[in-house]
Amino acid sequence: MSVAHPKPDVAARPSVAAIADLTKADMSRVNALILSMAGSNVELIPQIADHLISSGGKRLRPMLTIASALAFGYRGEAHVKLAASVEFLHTATLLHDDVVDESDLRRGRKTARMIWGNQASVLVGDYLLGQAFRMMVEVGVMRALAILSNASAVIAEGEVWQLSAAKSMATSEKDYMAVIDAKTAALFSAATEVGPVIAQAPQEAQDAMRLYGRDLGLAFQLVDDVLDYGGSADALGKNVGDDFREGKITLPVILAYARGSEEERVFWRSAMEEGENGNDALRHARSLLAAHGALDETKERARAFGRSAFAATRAVPDPAAREALADVVAFCIDRIN
Ligand code: IPE
Ligand code: IPE
Ligand code: MG
Ligand code: MG
Repeated sequence: MSVAHPKPDVAARPSVAAIADLTKADMSRVNALILSMAGSNVELIPQIADHLISSGGKRLRPMLTIASALAFGYRGEAHVKLAASVEFLHTATLLHDDVVDESDLRRGRKTARMIWGNQASVLVGDYLLGQAFRMMVEVGVMRALAILSNASAVIAEGEVWQLSAAKSMATSEKDYMAVIDAKTAALFSAATEVGPVIAQAPQEAQDAMRLYGRDLGLAFQLVDDVLDYGGSADALGKNVGDDFREGKITLPVILAYARGSEEERVFWRSAMEEGENGNDALRHARSLLAAHGALDETKERARAFGRSAFAATRAVPDPAAREALADVVAFCIDRIN
């Protein structure tokens, strides 16, 4: 007699499987469009663009755009072009960001700037931005163009703001939240708002999806900033400790500084402002973050935005899309569990 073996009871971790499944057919067209729009007769362009594009990335934002359109019964073709332009805005931002942050590793590979240099990275980023706008214009929905062009300007603004706040321990929690709202949440928010816009869903649905994306984006960046002190380079595909070495003032540091003794504050200033940020300093920083519960508190903030994003999914009429969007929130939060 054969006994059926029950499956081992491994609790399934939250994943993007549901949204990947929901958007599968459209995403294969998005990916094809991404590759073709990354083309150019100027050889260096596809070389650099393909390096970053073919190394993967989660494709979270374009999946969100597709899902947010399908969620409201969209039946046309515009969502594919908008999703590709969203991913181009993201890719361009990464090319520029790695130059600004002097990062060596992205998506598990050498950054484009390490191979081709800063100048080429910046210019190819600009090309991708231009290509993103070409696609949006082809779609021809003025409201979608307004949302995405706004996001594009706001992201750059956030990056510049962050640059001017770098290496200053005077950066407040409020400054930090404004920066991540701009550099990260703006694109998530635009990515999810354009779905109901092209589906001509009611204003309340557009508002709910804008908030969903924003809160998801805030949670996402808070999680990313926790992982920069607590994650592993293998899992992230980028180096851990970059924020510390760059003197980037993120919430964990702001909290530990506020809660620290005068001696600890001297340490933070010398590390973040004067660049005393070798491996010993990083170890010490991590111990201070732990001692003051700064990573835990940051995780708690991420969870709170996650709950708010989750609540916004109630506006989604389609159950499969609603569940897929809720799973994305759980997936982002689970990275710190
Ligand atoms: C990286 O975004 C930039 C941040 C907002 C932290 P992702 O983590 O979504 O990057 P990819 O596209 O999956 O590589
Ligand atoms: C990534 O920001 C790019 C934007 C969100 C604009 P970060 O510099 O914080 O993220 P990583 O660590 O390089 O992905
Ligand atoms: Mg960076
Ligand atoms: Mg950066």
